[in-house]
Amino acid sequence: MASAPRITVIGTGYLGATHAACMAELGYEVIGVDVDPDKVSDLQAGRVPFYEPGLEELIAPHIASGRLRFTTSAEEAAAFGDVHFICVGTPQRKGEFAADTSYLDQAVDALAPHLVRPCLVVGKSTVPVGTAARLAERLSARAPVGEAAELAWNPEFLREGHAINDTLRPDRLVVGVRSAAAEARLREVYAPLLDAGVPFLTTDFATSELVKVSANAFLSTKISFINAMAEVCEAAGADVTQLSEALSYDPRIGGLFLNAGLGFGGGCLPKDIRAFMARAGELGVDQALTFLREVDAINMRRRFKMVDLAREACGGGFLGRRVAVFGAAFKPESDDIRDSPALNVAAQVQLQGGEVTVYDPKATDNARKMYPGLAYADTAFDAARGAHVVLHLTEWREFRAIDPEELGEIVAARHIIDGRNALDAPRWRAAGWTFRALGRP
Ligand code: UDX
Repeated sequence: MASAPRITVIGTGYLGATHAACMAELGYEVIGVDVDPDKVSDLQAGRVPFYEPGLEELIAPHIASGRLRFTTSAEEAAAFGDVHFICVGTPQRKGEFAADTSYLDQAVDALAPHLVRPCLVVGKSTVPVGTAARLAERLSARAPVGEAAELAWNPEFLREGHAINDTLRPDRLVVGVRSAAAEARLREVYAPLLDAGVPFLTTDFATSELVKVSANAFLSTKISFINAMAEVCEAAGADVTQLSEALSYDPRIGGLFLNAGLGFGGGCLPKDIRAFMARAGELGVDQALTFLREVDAINMRRRFKMVDLAREACGGGFLGRRVAVFGAAFKPESDDIRDSPALNVAAQVQLQGGEVTVYDPKATDNARKMYPGLAYADTAFDAARGAHVVLHLTEWREFRAIDPEELGEIVAARHIIDGRNALDAPRWRAAGWTFRALGRP
């Protein structure tokens, strides 16, 4: 039997570092590659430069055994690997909706000139449809082995905070391939997952690229749907949390991703729906996705609504008012602050004159870098001291554990607004708090 394929993972952010660790966990020899020498030395020392539950623990033994290592050298990776996964970012372009795919080009350009034997290069990044076909040409044109350096597309669906589980136990594997050999190679790499019953779908490049962006478009739509219902509930005096629960029993609807609140943020959903709209425009089918504009708009309106509720709680204006913000990460179990609804609200309140203090269990360092003008506290209680209103904007478990009586002792006024519909309203009201929430009376 041929020996197991050797794996490289190019780009060691949230996606790549997790993928590299999980490939090692499946038993492969793995090299992770990044252009950032600091990231590489951190990872090589077993330090994960971002917060992902369980990842440091997963990486440590594989670094120690030498099965997993990290380098900045694409040449070393090319010489080593049989299968190269590309996991670089595709951020939103400045001032535009479209995705910036230049990191993918750079990854291919760094690797390709060193590819002197047959191999498979597998894109995992979220991309505008058509990118894989373009990269396939770029790859074979630049690789000394030509078309024997084959491309495949294998979109990643992992969620931050659940990255390891989502990688080792995905709902499905989707691969876009142009040859039976590429499919066979990927089946081989993922054999342990296939043996565990994970569905494996083989398709063309374009469909595989679209599966990812349409999944994210659907999820965003589901969130904005329930947030649109929240707007109606607010006007009608109804309760969106009960509405959502009642809807969830219909198996055609389902309860997941039906939590009304401050809406979606992060490095994926917001930029992916915008890039999807931009790509549809290029393809001449922009009308097919105009509804995503509304999805985006509903999502952003929740942030303004939150600021309005906070202003009301402060008596109509923020001047001279202290506002405590609980949460900075775009969601719990993550230190990622990209497009964080919580920080967006905090910044708006500050801009309108509020004295804002933010507390987050994991994301403070990142938040401080991007929003140096906000004040930060080391504990929720420190953030809340003297506050006229507390805004609960990221639903970390520790916020649910706070005793409203105890917190009530140190604030200037017992006003709390739950932006995530995650706190126990009766408990806060019983402790004398004015409790308001998005989408509820
Ligand atoms: C998302 C997709 O879920 C994942 O499949 C894809 O690979 C990358 O993008 P992620 O960005 O890690 O993952 O976070 P996710 O858990 O999907 O949450 C996205 C945002 O939606 C968060 O801001 C979250 O707070 C918000 N959200 C989620 C809601 O507002 N309501 C919900 O019911 C669910």
